[in-house]
This record gives sequence, C-alpha cells and structure tokens, in this order.
Amino acid sequence: MHIVWREETKTFHLFNEQISYIMKVLRNGQLGQLYFGKRVHDREDFSYLLEILSRPMASCTFEDNREFSLEHIKQEYPSYGTGDYRAPAVEVVQNNGSRISNFVYKGHTITEGKPALEGLPATYTEDDAEAQTLIVDMEDDVVGLKMKLSYTIFARGGIIARSVRFENAGNEALHLTAAMSLCLDLPDCNYDWMQFSGAWARERQLRVRHLEMGVQSVGSRRGHSSHEHNPFVILKRPNADEFQGEAIGFSFVYSGNFLAQAEVGAHNTTRVLIGIHPDGFDWKLGTGESFQTPEAVMVYTDRGLNDLSQTFHQLYHKRLVRGYWRDRVRPILINNWEATYMDFDEEKILDIAQRAKDCGVELFVLDDGWFGARCSEHAGLGDWVANTNRLPEGITGLARRIEDMGMKFGLWFEPEMVNKDSNLYRAHPDWILHVPGRPSAHGRFQYVLDFSRKEVVDCIYNMMDKILSEAKVSYVKWDMNRSITECFSPALPADRQGEVFHRYILGVYDLYERLTSKFPHILFESCASGGARFDPGMLYYAPQTWTSDDTDAIERLKIQHGTSYCYPISSMGSHVSTAPNHQTGRNAPLHTRANAAYFGTFGYELDLNTLSEEEQEQVKDQIRFMKEYRHLLQFGTFYRLESPFEGNVTGWMVISGDKKEAIAGWFRVLSGANQPCSRLYLKGLDPDAAYHVTVRRETEREFGQFYGDELMHAGLITSDASSSSGAEGLCDFESRLFILKAENK
Ligand code: DGJ
Repeated sequence: MHIVWREETKTFHLFNEQISYIMKVLRNGQLGQLYFGKRVHDREDFSYLLEILSRPMASCTFEDNREFSLEHIKQEYPSYGTGDYRAPAVEVVQNNGSRISNFVYKGHTITEGKPALEGLPATYTEDDAEAQTLIVDMEDDVVGLKMKLSYTIFARGGIIARSVRFENAGNEALHLTAAMSLCLDLPDCNYDWMQFSGAWARERQLRVRHLEMGVQSVGSRRGHSSHEHNPFVILKRPNADEFQGEAIGFSFVYSGNFLAQAEVGAHNTTRVLIGIHPDGFDWKLGTGESFQTPEAVMVYTDRGLNDLSQTFHQLYHKRLVRGYWRDRVRPILINNWEATYMDFDEEKILDIAQRAKDCGVELFVLDDGWFGARCSEHAGLGDWVANTNRLPEGITGLARRIEDMGMKFGLWFEPEMVNKDSNLYRAHPDWILHVPGRPSAHGRFQYVLDFSRKEVVDCIYNMMDKILSEAKVSYVKWDMNRSITECFSPALPADRQGEVFHRYILGVYDLYERLTSKFPHILFESCASGGARFDPGMLYYAPQTWTSDDTDAIERLKIQHGTSYCYPISSMGSHVSTAPNHQTGRNAPLHTRANAAYFGTFGYELDLNTLSEEEQEQVKDQIRFMKEYRHLLQFGTFYRLESPFEGNVTGWMVISGDKKEAIAGWFRVLSGANQPCSRLYLKGLDPDAAYHVTVRRETEREFGQFYGDELMHAGLITSDASSSSGAEGLCDFESRLFILKAENK
C-alpha cells in the first residue's frame, strides 16, 4: 500500500493492490475528489478527472473564469454556502451569524499505521505495516478554524477509514452544526442503493432501489443507531450481485444519531454523506477547543456483495473488536428471559441452569429482574443491587452456585436507564435527560439517565464495579430499551444543548471503556431491545450483539442475512427458543431453530426442562455439534448463497481458510407439493479437493463424496427435501446442514 503525494500537481494517490483513492488540491485551495475504485496506475497528473466545464447558471468562484463552479466539482469535504447547493459535509455558525466557511489546504502528513481516536471507537492496526494514514491539514483563515481530514488505507482489502478533527485556533467561539465523517462525490449515479431497515423484532431487512435525482437517505434521531435503520448502506452497480460486480459499502462506527444519504445532482453525479445526524446537532467550539468526528469506513469491491461483506467481516472481527474474546469461540449460553421473564426465584433459576448444564451448556445468563424492586417494568432500574427476596445470597451466592455446577455465570444490566420507582431516581430526580418545567416522555416506563454528566456515569460505574468485583461474573448483557426524548441536560448551558446527544454516547463509550479495561475477561454482549444498537461502535467494546428480540428461526433468516452484509457471524447473538415462538406463534422444528442459531454465537432461551426427553437428547447433540464446529461457524469465511428476501429458500455457507472444512445451511420456509428439483451452488471450495459430505437434520448421515468443482458448478442437490412427496422433511420450516470435509489429496 502507498500514499503518493505529487507536489507539482498537488495530487494524493492512495492505493493498494485492489483500490485507488485520488484527490487533488483545487485552484481555490479546497480538496477535490478525483477517483475511488479499482486500482489504476499512478501518474503525475489526474486533473482530467475533474471534468471542469462551463455550465449555464453556475455560481463561479473566480472573477476571471466561469468554469470553476463548486456545484459541479467533486469535492472531498464540501462546506455550506459557497456555490455548492448540495448537502454540505460541514457547516460552521460564526459570531456574526454567517454560516459560510472556506477550508483551504495548508499541508499534510503521512504516517505508518493508524492513530487512535480519543474517546471514540475505531478500527485499529496492530502493526504499522498494516496501514498508512494521510492527514490533510485544512484551515478557514477568516475564523482560524483548523480541520484535519484523516484517511487510512489498509494494506489488504479495498478499505479506506476516514474521520475529521476540528480545532478552533481563532479568537471567537464557533458552532459546528454539521460535521460529517465522510463525503464521497461519485461521477455518475448508475447505482442501486441498499439499506438495512425495519422495526423492533424485524431489524435490518434489505431494501434496494435505484438511485434517482434528489436525496435518498436513512438515519436515526432516536439517540441510538436504531431498529429502524442501520448505519450501513451500499451502492452497487445494477448488474452487480452476490458474486460479481462493483459495490461500495459505507459503514459508520458510531452508536447514536446518524445520517447516511446519497444525493444525485442535475448532472447525474452522486454525493454520499455519512456522519452524525445534523438535525439537532450544534457543537460549540470555544477558542482552543477541538471536536473529533466518529470514524466512517468505506469498502470498494469489484467482486460482488459477498466479497464486500467478507472484507467488512475480516476488518471488524480482527481490527475493530478488541481484547480477550476477539479470537475466542463464544460460550454456549442459556438465557432465562423467554423462560421466565421477570417471574423467577433462585430455585427456578437453578433448576433451569442444572438442566442446561446436563445438556452441555457452558454459561448461564440471568436476565432482567434480579435487582432492586424490579418485579415489573415499572420499578427498579437504576438500583443495581440484588433483590434478596429472590436471590437470598445475592448475585455472589447465585454466581457461586452456578460455578459450582460447572458453568460460568452472566448477568443483565441496563446501565443507562432509571425507573421513577427507584432509589436512584428518588435521590437524583435531576439525573434524567429532561427539560425543567416540561413533562418527559417515558418508554417502557423508564427514563434515560443523563450520561453526558460524568457524575452520573461514575455512579453507575461504581454500582456495576461492586457487583462485578464481588461476584464471579463472566459475561455481561448490556441492554438499552428505549429511545431518547427531551434530550436536554440541565448541567449544560443553553448554547451547548446541541451537544447532548453526542455527549451521551461519549458517556456510554466511557463506561464501556472503564468496565472492559477493569474486567478484560468478561464477555460483553450489547443489546438495545434486541438489535437497536447493532453497530460498529458497540462492537469495539462488546464483541457480540443481541441481534434481535425476534427469536423465531424463520424471521431470523432475514434478520441474520441482512445483518451479515456488514457484521461478522461471530458478532450475532443467536438463540434457540421455544415453540410456539413468543414473537410469531410459529412452530419451527427444533433442528431448524438450531440450524439458524448456529450461524451466530449460539445459545438457548427457554427452559430445557419443558422439552421431552427425546428433544433434550437432540439439544445435547446440537451442543456437541456446535462445540465441534463453532470455530468454523464463527470465524470461517461466510457466504450468502440464496436470499430470504428473494425467495422461499435461504442458503448460507462458511468455509475454513484452508478450504478443508465447510458447512452449508439450507432453509426452506414453506413446503409445497410436487416441487421442482433444487440445488445449492457452493462457493469458495478447492475445486480439486474431494469432499466427504454428511447431512444433518435431527441426526447426521452420509450424503456422498464430491469434488469441489462439482459442488460449485453442478451444485449440491437438495431436492430430496423439496420435491418428492413422502420424503423426510416434507414440512414447512425445514432445513438441513451439509458438513464438508476435504479428504486428503
Ligand atoms: C430487551 C432484550 O432484548 C431482551 O433480550 C431482554 O433482555 C429484555 N430487554 C429484558 O428487559
């Protein structure tokens, strides 16, 4: 990988074996965008790519010329109001009320590796040879506002990570009212826009539409990244599919309000912006103060969507997730939420745990309801002290008993929330986000603690620290069950209220950082009513996320499939739950529930005592199977073969780095009579290797031996389960796993 600077033409060329990213200092000192795509040869001058033309009605920068018009020039980080009418990346309100700024090139530095972003999650390098970083220094001379545009190119993969830092070196206080993390101006608009949207219990459903003139966007103003939209979008060429063609993915490493948008202009150019949502954002930059935007990551591929996803998976698994659990297979857990909800006592918990232990489960997780006066949604949040009526010897005693059984113990918290019926709220009613003198909306009868205040974060830290220090806790589920309203902090002055949403997230990150540093061996799983904070920001602290509150295996096909476009399999919390399912009422067979959950961290969310003996034997076998294959399932290369958004069948596959082992999952939603034959076309195999294949339903049996090229090109025949009447598995919600092992060549 290289970052080349051509002094004469003032051109930057960042490239590795796969991509080139080219920019140039423009005649007006601003930075112009020339190219992002497949690697091209380096040359002295790429100015021809600017396509500067004289256009009617254009607003022009120079008096002697009517060609240089910012509305028609592709830019790196456009500012508001100087002739570019598209949405800006930055807007600065000044003392005199002006919003006009003009950032010009002052210099740059190129360093090996990648500097950390203070207080914010970001991708990282472990060795300087893994990446190079370019920091371009820009300045608005009129107000003395410095801006550092940061670009990291990784040695491997079509990846560019970007962020921006502002420093007020002038004499007046300024207000940033837009400070996006990334802008990319593309020369045409022949793209399909892919977004991952939905609602509670049906997160990250793929939606695709062709770009049209005007703005298309997704975002969140809820204070979390949200169930409704994910901070990840893809632009793909219309002819691109999972296995070939050009696509660019844009991912925002952040957990709060965001905006991701594409704006197609009158001449068919496309501007992509991603960053903190400008609505309601107003960051005061006093003299000498600085502001760091979160990071945005873009990935280019010309090899289709699977390749795009695999690049994100590799980057996020290896260089975003951190710590002890990054490369370790995840424990098979049982969570009591759907088994008991808040109706439990210690005896019931131990009963569930013991049966789980007998089946081979490794970790018991105690969910909501163990603390304070928490017997319903109305009380207790904020009082992180065990309810000894339910747990006579507190968390310490329960954790010890679970450990004595031979299992690890995990615990649920919702650190950012408080119920009015709690000791914490009674002591500090002013600690919630609220506007004095106005009513506050509740969500699930709870209120949001003002995490922009250090004393609030400190107080929650102390309570959690005490429990985690006293009891033997190996796992924490960190939940967040409502969106933010009345986002106002009485602790901040009027001219800083536009900072509260972001300061809140910084407080969340601060608490995560303190807890994960003090307890590096605890496995953290983030959660926000299921998947309302399934974002890269969370993954920096918590290597896995509860994917959705919808535990129905058939619904999960779409949810996990959509999630996989950006996020690795090892990050997806996935459990087998009871039938009929609590969210859908569906009765999916036990093996299908497990087959979907294997493509994730895997666990159970039911009382195994309620299963028949035969089913418990099946569970034991599932756990044995997952223990044998979880490294492959969680860390292998993942392929989407067939999409649940397009048809009745979903196909997934994971393959080991050496191509010696693979597992393919085949899922069919509805059965039918006298169906056509069907095949799964596998990917990524060694064409010359002979694979021994077994098929797994309730039990495992021989399937045959095939060469890799046969399985990829002729296909793996799944029609026994789909076409003939009377065949095994002729039912709705059927699924199979095919396990492939290369025989010694
Ligand atoms: C929402 C989570 O997603 C559930 O798994 C469960 O932990 C509940 N909250 C508990 O209140």
